Amino acid sequence: MAFTIAIDGPAAAGKGTISKALANAFGIAHLDTGLIYRATGRRLLDGVEAVEAARTLQAADLEADGLRTPDVARAASQVAAIPEVREALVDFQRAFARRSGGAVLDGRDIGTVICPEAEVKFFVTASDAVRAERRYAELSGTGHDVTLDQVLADLRERDARDSARAAAPMIPAEDAVVLDTSEMSIDQAVEAAIKLVTERSGQQ
Ligand code: DC
Repeated sequence: MAFTIAIDGPAAAGKGTISKALANAFGIAHLDTGLIYRATGRRLLDGVEAVEAARTLQAADLEADGLRTPDVARAASQVAAIPEVREALVDFQRAFARRSGGAVLDGRDIGTVICPEAEVKFFVTASDAVRAERRYAELSGTGHDVTLDQVLADLRERDARDSARAAAPMIPAEDAVVLDTSEMSIDQAVEAAIKLVTERSGQQ
């Protein structure tokens, strides 16, 4: 199936889980574009200037340790607001999206800027409280010393910055299907996404 699936939405809404499940179900590649911004943010924290960090990013940087920490998430959101950083990262993402076998990309601007021509677009969201609980469970489960209040405040700060920026803000594409996972289990959300992609791919 040579198909591009774009998945956008705020932090901890379930994008990653849904993307991986879709990639698996349809046998296509998956790119978590947040990792690209996290890797750039990680390099900024290591002292590399942001635009330079984005321009000289290597594939190996995406596998660096410690990309899933709150500090790196904040730095990622900060570098992501710089237009030159975003520009430096566009070609890699578009090349990935054009893979012959098809691809799932998840992020904030996939359906609007990176792959406006994607065959299926989702905007995955959930209430702040549900997202904070999910991220809190994930972070405390991986040994991070955080409180639920801190996680909630961090998510809100990051979402506000990601939505308000001028360059490729987080916003649902006009033709995106909004999937609110607040009241859904992971399995239900995945099932709903697979069903929609199956229907759409049948119509191609
Ligand atoms: O998906 P994530 O939480 O790993 O993303 C980290 C940050 O990177 C997010 O707060 C905003 C930025 N980002 C972006 O601006 N555009 C994308 N396509 C993906 C992530």
